[in-house]
Amino acid sequence: MSEILCIYYSRTGHTRASMEEIARTLGAELAEVQDGVERGGWGGYLRCGADAVRKTCRRVRPLETRRPLEQYRLVIVGTPVWAGRCSAPIRSFLKEYGGRLRAAAYVITRKSADRNEEVFDQMDRYVPCGHAAAVSLRSGSVGYAFWQEEFLRQVREALR
Ligand SMILES: Cc1cc2nc3c(=O)[nH]c(=O)nc-3n(C[C@H](O)[C@H](O)[C@H](O)COP(=O)(O)O)c2cc1C
Repeated sequence: MSEILCIYYSRTGHTRASMEEIARTLGAELAEVQDGVERGGWGGYLRCGADAVRKTCRRVRPLETRRPLEQYRLVIVGTPVWAGRCSAPIRSFLKEYGGRLRAAAYVITRKSADRNEEVFDQMDRYVPCGHAAAVSLRSGSVGYAFWQEEFLRQVREALR
């Protein structure tokens, strides 16, 4: 059983693809966060933006992880950037479970050139242990592979 958990929310698949690749490389367990809200189409897009701006939190669906969260050496949390913030399902997850993480790392995915790195500090507010590594990835960008590799290096260093 892996001691690393990769947990993420993804609306359109970019964060999922990044987290699948990271989990595969690290031999980590992978799990998805769901908050039961329909977020498809334009209505869903607007709802995502509104939830992010209002910092709306809901109960997330029970996690399907192999161990209790506190037993993982590292939990890597993946989220898309929404309106300069983390996604509402990940905010909900962190609010409910952030206090149970022994060590955390963050992967955010975005569309714009702005790296939105302030999102890491926003996420830390729910995670008393803070983050040992973090990366901001932009799908399809020239630097994508470099930044993902740099993140993996930080993670391995943190686990040493
Ligand atoms: C409501 C909403 C707001 C967004 N706001 C931003 C933003 O502020 N900055 C940015 O770079 N990308 C923003 N995006 C784009 C997503 O962060 C980006 O496409 C991300 O990789 C999508 O991940 P996913 O496919 O896993 O859902 C936003 C997307 C949505 C749906």
